[in-house]
Amino acid sequence: MKAIWYDRTGPAREVFQFGDLPDPEPGRGQALIRVRASGVNPADTYLRAGANAPMAYPRVIPNSDGAGVVEALGPGVDPKWLGKRVWFYNGQRNGRAFGSAAEFIELDVDLLRELPGSVGFAEGATLGIPCMTAHRSVFMNGPVQGRVVLVTGGAGAVGHYAVQLAKWAGASVIATVSSAEKAARAKAGGADHAIDYRTEDVADRVREITGGAGVHHVVEVDLGGNLEATLKCVRMNGSVAYYASRGDPAPTFVVGAAMRLNLAITGVYLPVSPPEARRRAQDDITRWIGTGERMLSVAGRFPLTDCAAAHEAVEAGGKVGTVVVEP
Ligand SMILES: NC(=O)c1ccc[n+]([C@@H]2O[C@H](COP(=O)([O-])OP(=O)(O)OC[C@H]3O[C@@H](n4cnc5c(N)ncnc54)[C@H](OP(=O)(O)O)[C@@H]3O)[C@@H](O)[C@H]2O)c1
Repeated sequence: MKAIWYDRTGPAREVFQFGDLPDPEPGRGQALIRVRASGVNPADTYLRAGANAPMAYPRVIPNSDGAGVVEALGPGVDPKWLGKRVWFYNGQRNGRAFGSAAEFIELDVDLLRELPGSVGFAEGATLGIPCMTAHRSVFMNGPVQGRVVLVTGGAGAVGHYAVQLAKWAGASVIATVSSAEKAARAKAGGADHAIDYRTEDVADRVREITGGAGVHHVVEVDLGGNLEATLKCVRMNGSVAYYASRGDPAPTFVVGAAMRLNLAITGVYLPVSPPEARRRAQDDITRWIGTGERMLSVAGRFPLTDCAAAHEAVEAGGKVGTVVVEP
């Protein structure tokens, strides 16, 4: 099969190789998928750059997420999967070296869900890490129906899915954004209010919108960078689920303020989130995308041979949605 791989970490253009690798064989409980679109997430670029850790495997095919068609089955797999259009996640995580930047990938069927005919492969490849992380971050402290949820970075790949899922589940949603365009995007996804966190006082605006009560739950893209404001936005017995903290990775934690709110602050790291929660996310998302017009945002499309440009597009920042590579 044609594939992109790297044997050392570094800039995409320097370390990516394109060529032929042996076709994978589906093992017990696995399906062989012809990849039609491969989603590039920021973490795929961090892993390739060697930003946080040395390479975990001698050779890696990058990118975790994707969508495609099941072409063969290993022993023990229900034949209903054969020929199905699917979306998947964790292709290059949790002990797997070979991800989705290739013509084929073999995966445990547990990592697949059916992709409705109404959803394109590129759109399907935006679901894995972004939408599953959003789901976990929105629902980890229970149902949000009738609650007020603050989604920081509500126009980002994860944030925009969090806005949509929270709204779908019956919450009132406040999003923070950094421009009028991003406000429009958050509102198109269902946000009831959008606050520009660069020009407005987020805590003041949240208090105003909620009549002084604050929000029940926060989906947080930058725990450290936003901590001071976030603590002023949450009501008593509220909760914060954070999935990144790039603005300040080592914030000073105000123990007393959080304690007096009885606040639950929980980190989310999708690849190792509890299996039950991940399965629920897969099932809910599949139901959600099949039941109406959803905004599944493809930020850019690149051929497999240009996977380096796709990684660079993610690293450049400012993407709107998920960048995909199409083998
Ligand atoms: N823990 C996990 O399992 C997990 C899963 C997925 C992603 N992540 C991480 O989450 C981060 C975002 O990923 P993504 O794919 O959603 O990226 P993205 O599409 O670039 O979205 C990030 C959004 O956050 C906004 N933002 C940045 N700093 C902010 C702040 N202090 N307050 C409010 N908004 C802010 C950005 O907008 P402006 O720059 O315009 O403000 C942008 O809209 C990345 O670091 C990624 O590695 C973690």
